[in-house]
Amino acid sequence: MSKNYKIAVVNGDGIGEEIVPAGISVIEAVAKKYGFTISKENFSWGAGHYLKHGEFMPENGIETLKSFDAIYFGAVGLPEVDDTLPAKDYTFKVRTDLEQYVNYRPVKLFAGIESPLRDKTENDIDFVIIRENNEGEFVQNGKILYPDTPNGVAVDTSMVTRLGVERIAHYAFKLARKRRKKLTNVTKSNTLIYSLGFWDHVMEEVSKEYPDVAYSKMYVDNASASFVLRPEVFDVIVTTNMIGDILSDLGGAIMGSLGLGGSGNINPENNYPSMFEPIHGSAPDIAGQNIANPIGQIWSAAIMLEHLGEIEAANDIMKGINATTAKGDLTKDLKGSATTTEIAQSVIDSILTLE
Ligand code: NAI
Ligand code: MG
Repeated sequence: MSKNYKIAVVNGDGIGEEIVPAGISVIEAVAKKYGFTISKENFSWGAGHYLKHGEFMPENGIETLKSFDAIYFGAVGLPEVDDTLPAKDYTFKVRTDLEQYVNYRPVKLFAGIESPLRDKTENDIDFVIIRENNEGEFVQNGKILYPDTPNGVAVDTSMVTRLGVERIAHYAFKLARKRRKKLTNVTKSNTLIYSLGFWDHVMEEVSKEYPDVAYSKMYVDNASASFVLRPEVFDVIVTTNMIGDILSDLGGAIMGSLGLGGSGNINPENNYPSMFEPIHGSAPDIAGQNIANPIGQIWSAAIMLEHLGEIEAANDIMKGINATTAKGDLTKDLKGSATTTEIAQSVIDSILTLE
């Protein structure tokens, strides 16, 4: 009997409405090729839902998601909706409530794409950012008092726990073992001496269990410069929630466009479904024109299928993306003129002609 996967599909807002269907068309093509099936259910959640119903998702939304094998997501947020809500009421909520504590964000230069780093090749830009996804600077634990008075005061508290650091550390070291056996811990523990000092302390302890992995520490200011000047020094990076968020946009930029980055919000124990989405947002500035780059969304589909165990299908998608960019089929953000739907079709055509 062929395998069937139950996928919750959340397009979200803006370009999500265009790139998610593009990604689904690629998933359906590989499913057909490899003899598995996908049962999709679409959820029209996000800022658009908020405008109509006063909430990003229904109260039982998280419970609903729990019955799926995975969540395939675009992005949420619209200019006319308070921008403190998309993360709090959807993205962070799902990542936290479903214990997706790993944010897996690969950075890689595809064939035929010119990196803004003019001397760097595909061999130089190939690493993975492992961003801690449930704790750190983004726990949204804080308060604002009397904002419009001379006594205004605001505080955000960062949270780092032993369990949180240990589990992300183990994931990152195990991943490094499968790659080039090099792990860089990126923090700013020389100035955030308590929370990130403790992070480093626990990371160091865990590193002793992986003597075969070359472990080192780098501060985020140096790491930012190194992304640009010598990206080849990185294999796996492990970092905190906010630093990982910022560095992954820089990762997208050195790949050539933010629209290229795919990611997984992963619960490694599979106690809950994981969620797969591009690294960027809903890009309202280019929405509704069929010009958004769908590659980050399509790459996220490959990461999802790999997580579900469909390794050959995932590999085919990566080869399909590479063949598409190598041919020069590019969207506007990469100085091309192909549409969102044309890129998806080009990836599908490439997959169907793979040896
Ligand atoms: P953004 O990532 O949506 O856009 C930044 C820039 O990159 C824009 O110029 C956009 O046109 C371009 N861009 C992004 N994806 C692209 C693609 N696939 N193809 C071509 N160009 C692309 O970030 P921004 O503008 O800061 O945020 C817009 C909205 O998205 C906000 O409401 C924000 O809260 C939300 N957002 C949601 C995220 C999520 O749902 N996980 C993540 C980041 C932002
Ligand atoms: Mg971000």
